[in-house]
Amino acid sequence: MRKRIFSGVQPSGQLHLGNYLGALKHFARLQEDAECLYCVVDLHALTVPQDKGAVRAHTRATAAAFLACGIDPQRHIVFAQSRVSGHSELAWLLACVARLGWLNRMTQFKEKSGKHRENASLGLYAYPVLMAADVLLYRATHVPVGEDQTQHLELARDIAAKFNQEYGEEFFPLPAQVTTGAGTRIMSLRDGAKKMSKSTSARSESDMGLIYLTDSADDIRRKIQKAKTDAAPLPSEPAGLAARAEARNLVGIMAALEDVDEADVLRRYGGQGFAAFKRDLADGLVATLVPMGEDITRRLAEPQALDQLLEAGAARARALAAATMQKVRALMGLLG
Ligand code: AQP
Repeated sequence: MRKRIFSGVQPSGQLHLGNYLGALKHFARLQEDAECLYCVVDLHALTVPQDKGAVRAHTRATAAAFLACGIDPQRHIVFAQSRVSGHSELAWLLACVARLGWLNRMTQFKEKSGKHRENASLGLYAYPVLMAADVLLYRATHVPVGEDQTQHLELARDIAAKFNQEYGEEFFPLPAQVTTGAGTRIMSLRDGAKKMSKSTSARSESDMGLIYLTDSADDIRRKIQKAKTDAAPLPSEPAGLAARAEARNLVGIMAALEDVDEADVLRRYGGQGFAAFKRDLADGLVATLVPMGEDITRRLAEPQALDQLLEAGAARARALAAATMQKVRALMGLLG
């Protein structure tokens, strides 16, 4: 079977450096040797409270970011999840295959629901089943996602395997995670124990913990300058970063940005303080992110063009989804 990629990003806030290094950067590369579907997963965003207008605006901004990082919407499919009803339909059918015990183990639900679990939406609990449906609807073989999604992807494989076994046919491929090396888990610039995250960090740290894809050069330099570090010089080997979460995060960001290992970065900066390292890191981030941010802003100035592009993508996605749903209905014994 040909390699088919599916990945999604939630329009739950402004995209940040973690989304870029953990996902978007790889999306663009993978399009060279696979058929790709890149989706703005707006139904996922609704699992936690969102402002209505904001979801629509973030949907366009996320699509603009896909294009700005180099995804070709003619060769590949860029669309919004809610415009293809097969996602919700397959999610229900797979909810009847997934086991409660599997979902009870999902750590992201525990983190996101926090102390108020009884008050969390059913959608937040069922989120991993919808994610499985997203991937399986297109019978995708590979999924580029950051480390925070590894457990959800394992669940998607469990659901696919149980479906295949229960309905007597190897219909769904078991989707593999595309590992992304350095950058799979970028942490907040203010707290090395917290993931850089659209929703949580932004609220609690007045934006200094995140670098947004549309930040100006000045903002990027200021955030890197103020990024938390410690008093010791940078170590010469990665082992020396073990108990230094913030230093490790910054070294990881440089490694991911330059496509090198932490060891390569430390060969250059080991034994030095953070001043020159931070200056070079900020230069690298400005060179990569600022042109991308300007491209996003230009595209957002033409919302109708973005909407048309998303709608054309949805039409192509619907055709693929319809073929899967027809077969799934037949296998599950529903009317065709
Ligand atoms: N900090 C991160 N480091 C590396 N990769 C990350 N991703 C997200 N944060 C980091 C990857 O970005 C892709 C899109 O993520 P998402 O929008 O679907 O959901 P998320 O993982 O929950 O992202 P956020 O930013 O933390 O959003 P909120 O706050 O709304 O939950 C995924 O491939 C993810 O791995």
